[in-house]
Amino acid sequence: MPYYRRIGNIPPKRHTQFRQPDGSLYAEELMGQEGFSSDSSLLYHRHLPTAIVAAEEYEPQAWSRQANRPLKPRHIQTHKLDTTGADPILGRQHLLANDDCRISYVVADQPSPLYRNAIGDECVYVEAGRARVETSFGALEVAEGDYVIIPTSVIHRIVPLTGAGPLRTLVIEATGHIGPPRRYLSVRGQLLEHAPYCERDLRGPSEPLLVDDTDVEVYVQHRSRGAGPGNNVGWTKFTYAHHPFDVVGWDGCLYPWAFSIHDFEPITGRVHQPPPVHQTFEGPNFVICSFVPRKVDYHPLSIPVPYNHHNVDSDEMLFYTGGNYEARRGSGIEQGSISLHPGGFTHGPQPGAPERAIGVDYFDELAVMVDTFRPLDLCEPALAAEDPGYAWTWARRDAPTAGAPDTATG
Ligand SMILES: [Fe+2]
Repeated sequence: MPYYRRIGNIPPKRHTQFRQPDGSLYAEELMGQEGFSSDSSLLYHRHLPTAIVAAEEYEPQAWSRQANRPLKPRHIQTHKLDTTGADPILGRQHLLANDDCRISYVVADQPSPLYRNAIGDECVYVEAGRARVETSFGALEVAEGDYVIIPTSVIHRIVPLTGAGPLRTLVIEATGHIGPPRRYLSVRGQLLEHAPYCERDLRGPSEPLLVDDTDVEVYVQHRSRGAGPGNNVGWTKFTYAHHPFDVVGWDGCLYPWAFSIHDFEPITGRVHQPPPVHQTFEGPNFVICSFVPRKVDYHPLSIPVPYNHHNVDSDEMLFYTGGNYEARRGSGIEQGSISLHPGGFTHGPQPGAPERAIGVDYFDELAVMVDTFRPLDLCEPALAAEDPGYAWTWARRDAPTAGAPDTATG
């Protein structure tokens, strides 16, 4: 990703002899994206990264999935999906999916197994709790508000840390790569001055993570011919002869990294700013945006909440992850709620919200948005946690005191 990083011991010249204390060669591995025509890193292993001793198919939890028909705005109450004894990877409950991305939610209190997603990058957003993300590139300590970007095929595991409550994460699994919006990057990849964050805000591994072990299982999610569109996923459990955390050093621009939503510097204006100012990352056919506490529109006649709007080429998913929800009392939206406003439906603030917002100069809100160009299907857990009355709240037909989220994000 964003910029060059060098960790641990590496030889001065790439692709040259680099020997271990016993005189044997380290095993060099090039991990590269887009046919080795994009970002890559060179890793130096104590053992062969190719040495597997067993492979068996794994059947993950299967969730049914259906199209959003009849087309409706949806409200999913993720905290109704709370479980105990789950891990942050195999315990993911699928919510929304299309052929470009899949969005899941998990409440975890157990360490995950070792895992590799060979289909695409993952963005793990931490709603609550703390964790240590252990990878073959080193470890990242993450906490509430962190986005963790794990590039395709990086072997890792997620270990919830005790004392901070269960780990709650929203996970966006892509079928390609996730990174900063291109308009914020120089031609050589530096984050530009008008970007809402910069390299200083990004955290990467700082030292190698070495584990000695043999016959180690790694769950691999990979491309496979499946039962139909959107189901081209397979799982295989490899057993490696040696623990994959055997990298003594690496360098390059491909590695796992973290960015806190609290380091996102909001872009504000005299009148209401359009959704792209909140964009934080882009992926294949989707974007990820951050709505953070901020001063709001300061034109003397401004209306701080958004206008009704129709994102005609996208579905908009919004995850409410913090802030003052007292202002939204009666809307049904609460901490952990997800709203889905699909293309084909005009959405906006609840009736009366624009008048109430006039004169307000600050919004204390925290939300993560995923806008997808292809429509999102609803997965079984999302339907189980759905508030069925949400679609009618703008009309106030079923609940005269209820409304759409009284929020700046919309
Ligand atoms: Fe919107």
